[in-house]
Amino acid sequence: MSVILQVSSLVKRFGKLTAVDRVSFGIHSGTCFGLLGPNGAGKTTTIELMEGIKTPDEGEILYRGEPLGQRFRNEAGIMFQNTALQEFVTVYEMLLQFSRFYPRTADIDELVEQYSLQDFLHQDTRKLSGGQKQRLLLAMALINQPKILFLDEPTTGLDPQSRRNLWEQVHRVKAQGATILLTTHYMEEAYELCDEIAIMDHGRIIAHDAPDALLAKHFSDVVVQLHEQDVPRALGEREFDATYRNDCAHIVTDDVNKTIVRLLDLNVSLGRLRIRARNLEDLFLELTGKELRA
Ligand SMILES: Nc1ncnc2c1ncn2[C@@H]1O[C@H](COP(=O)(O)OP(=O)(O)O)[C@@H](O)[C@H]1O
Ligand SMILES: [Mg+2]
Repeated sequence: MSVILQVSSLVKRFGKLTAVDRVSFGIHSGTCFGLLGPNGAGKTTTIELMEGIKTPDEGEILYRGEPLGQRFRNEAGIMFQNTALQEFVTVYEMLLQFSRFYPRTADIDELVEQYSLQDFLHQDTRKLSGGQKQRLLLAMALINQPKILFLDEPTTGLDPQSRRNLWEQVHRVKAQGATILLTTHYMEEAYELCDEIAIMDHGRIIAHDAPDALLAKHFSDVVVQLHEQDVPRALGEREFDATYRNDCAHIVTDDVNKTIVRLLDLNVSLGRLRIRARNLEDLFLELTGKELRA
């Protein structure tokens, strides 16, 4: 697999803040690469450097082995934030306007059908629902049949169903052969969509690999999860070194039998017990000592 886009030692500073701090990675052609990290980690700044929208203070970006140039601009698709939509312009007009920027474009009617834009094709773009807007923005990003697609937090603020719907569409774009770079602070999204993930915090990449490889490398244990009401904090922390989040006690163990025996000894109700594999949220917590969504 060839590397289509390579960044090396990228640095971007805003005054005293180093928003992107020596970031390096390569994106293999035809894969989905995810930048996962909390708000303020430097994801948007990194993706904007790679899109050519911002200029790095240091480092290098190569697209197919060359600095970003006309070829990159013709072959890149960027999904803008919904502030890019204009009032008094319909969905159809927006697609038409966008198509005029490029020498080679997708068939608008096909995009309308693929992204289910028919029902609001002649509505004002500012009056769409969150899910509808994201579908339109994705269709706009695909108007030049991009070889590489940039998605900055594509599902932030969407309800679960619209999020799933957008995931399906991203899978489809990938199945058609495009390379994708996406940023997200949802670990499920990174896990669902990405072949490789770089975890970012404070402008740096703190881990980078395929999602399952990342988990396998860092964890050999599992999590016994119980409702907080069944294992009060004081007990859980004392007996199991449990951590508490989302109303649940999370007990990390490499001996599930022993943990369950001990829970029974303590008369803990196991009716709501779940055993789960470690996930990227756990990994982030492990690497940084803080929660991804905090
Ligand atoms: N134009 C800017 N001027 C000053 N600081 C900025 C600017 N853009 C981003 N930052 C800061 O850089 C850091 C990284 O921001 P950003 O790349 O937007 O992170 P993320 O997308 O991961 O939330 C944040 O601390 C943010 O406040
Ligand atoms: Mg951002």
